Amino acid sequence: MRSPRAFFRPLAVGAPVPNVDIPFKPSRMIHFFDPSNEKMAAKVPDIAAKVDILLGNLEDAVKTDKKEAARQGLVDIAKANDFGDTQLWTRVNSLDSPWVLDDLITLVTEIGDKLDVIMVPKVEGPQDIHYVDRILAQLEARAGLDRQILVHAILETAEGVANVEEIAAASPRMQGISLGPADLAASRRMKTARVGGGHPGYLVRQDPTGDDLTEGRAIYQQDLWHYTIARMVDACAMNGILPFYGPFGDIKDVVACEDQFRNAFLLGCVGAWSLHPVQIDIAKKVFSPSPEDVAHAKRVVEAMGDGSGAVMIDGKMEDDASCKQNIVMLDLAKALAE
Ligand code: GLV
Ligand code: MG
Repeated sequence: MRSPRAFFRPLAVGAPVPNVDIPFKPSRMIHFFDPSNEKMAAKVPDIAAKVDILLGNLEDAVKTDKKEAARQGLVDIAKANDFGDTQLWTRVNSLDSPWVLDDLITLVTEIGDKLDVIMVPKVEGPQDIHYVDRILAQLEARAGLDRQILVHAILETAEGVANVEEIAAASPRMQGISLGPADLAASRRMKTARVGGGHPGYLVRQDPTGDDLTEGRAIYQQDLWHYTIARMVDACAMNGILPFYGPFGDIKDVVACEDQFRNAFLLGCVGAWSLHPVQIDIAKKVFSPSPEDVAHAKRVVEAMGDGSGAVMIDGKMEDDASCKQNIVMLDLAKALAE
């Protein structure tokens, strides 16, 4: 089995050596469902067969008076189903909420043997991860679990972004980090009310070519999340953990969803959240390297032999560095095929 740390292995001489070995599993989409919603819960076995990660959500989008039903619903679903290779995750309530302690105690005690990862929302610094880490260690020991449950942080406050490097390095339990654009926009007082994706007002306009300032000027919409994703990807790569784009709320706009997912993929993310079945296939397509990219990567790596020197392929110069870029693509294709 490969590990995210080996998968995201440091390519630079002298880079930090990972201290734990977590098996790598395909993680192209984290599919959210509300375990308090009986209609959604009934579809879980079908959905589980189509996704890499199934996540029972206990936090935002679950009403306050349904928190306990959601927690119990997840316990019942986990006990009643065998998810095979599909990972089972949960998103617990935030660390300042009245529910999170019971979430952790109940879930680890009842279904700790089935839970792969606990997603922790609104993480602001390494102290939040340390807190969860210690509680999990106690609960795992009490439940007699023989493997560690991993932790995934959502980056969705200005303070969290400021501390992202420390968060990524906070514990060997860290599996990865997701961008949470909705809470982050509110925390930063950004002026978008959309759940992820771009905004038509955030644009650059081409300079005028003549005297008329209104005519013929191309408009390019910009990526609101570029800075945060790039920073999160660096923090994750530095620590051998996996970066994800989070939610895209406009379910009907499959084109913009695919664009947002692809921007994240190109910047280094391994997956995104899916909030509706239609987004599962989008994530699968975007976060799997295309056959053309894989074929090209094979050509370059084969032509480069021992990986040193330079060759010309289709009029383009390839060298040690571009060989590594192509190995990244081949590694991902291989890991997804295993
Ligand atoms: C996700 O939780 C978000 O706030 O975008
Ligand atoms: Mg959020």
